[in-house]
Amino acid sequence: MIKKCLFPAAGYGTRFLPATKAVPKEMLPILTKPLMQYGVEEALSAGITNMAIVTGRGKRAIEDHFDNAFELESQLSGTSKESYLKDIKEIIKKSTFTYVRQKKMLGLGHAILTGEPLIGDEPFAVVLADDLCDCDEDGVISQMIEVYNQYQCSVIAIEEVPMNQTSKYGIIAGNLVDNSDDTYRVTDMVEKPKEESAPSNMAIIGRYILTPDIFNILKSIRPDKNGEIQITDALLVQAKQSKVIAYKFKGRRFDCGGIEGFIQATNYFAKKQGII
Ligand code: UTP
Repeated sequence: MIKKCLFPAAGYGTRFLPATKAVPKEMLPILTKPLMQYGVEEALSAGITNMAIVTGRGKRAIEDHFDNAFELESQLSGTSKESYLKDIKEIIKKSTFTYVRQKKMLGLGHAILTGEPLIGDEPFAVVLADDLCDCDEDGVISQMIEVYNQYQCSVIAIEEVPMNQTSKYGIIAGNLVDNSDDTYRVTDMVEKPKEESAPSNMAIIGRYILTPDIFNILKSIRPDKNGEIQITDALLVQAKQSKVIAYKFKGRRFDCGGIEGFIQATNYFAKKQGII
């Protein structure tokens, strides 16, 4: 059973400055809903109710969003606007939120390691809320839990990207397993390779199921040349033991950490809801 989902949300969000100077990137809205809420809804729809959030300085709006707002609620109570808060109140009722602060922004791997006290010794999901995913049926985390249940090892979500974009992602090499066309046993991973040296065009996106041995591996990973601890390096250790499955998820992903993806997501959801 995967019971907990970790949300690393301590990054500076420099691509969205100045908007992210005082507002966490994860609280930027697509239509009226913050990115973080989409992520939490995806975890909830996969049966996960324990949301573990890695925050940092200037991120208190995330905690406030997932808490009751008595004054606002009593103001709106009985009015036509009460329905605007219905979904978020439901989420708050169903979920438990725990928080830990990453004191220094030393990369995604370090942020995940910072979440260890909230997760403990059990497999867990990871959602990077700025990768917003939309699926026709099951959400990406639900799809990945099915894969985890079959293989009982770490699972990473992948997507094919144009070869000239490989330098933006972690890229995997792997072999299809069990006659599937979407599930690979990972043999290698390279962080942000140039097109010439990329082992494939299969890019890791912001969804993971990790087994808890990842924490001890992360403790042994040395920082890269930018002083950051990369989750890809820790996953590579597991991959060398044949313990990482890459899964080509069914659905669409938008990189809402950048302006282009953010606009695409806004247009996509506005069209889907008949607003434009
Ligand atoms: P990004 O690479 O998108 O970094 O991190 P960022 O700082 O948020 O954004 P830019 O590139 O400066 O615009 C991927 C995810 O990892 C988290 C971020 O919050 C984001 O969800 N992260 C990254 C941390 O929690 N801590 C870190 O030290 C780095």
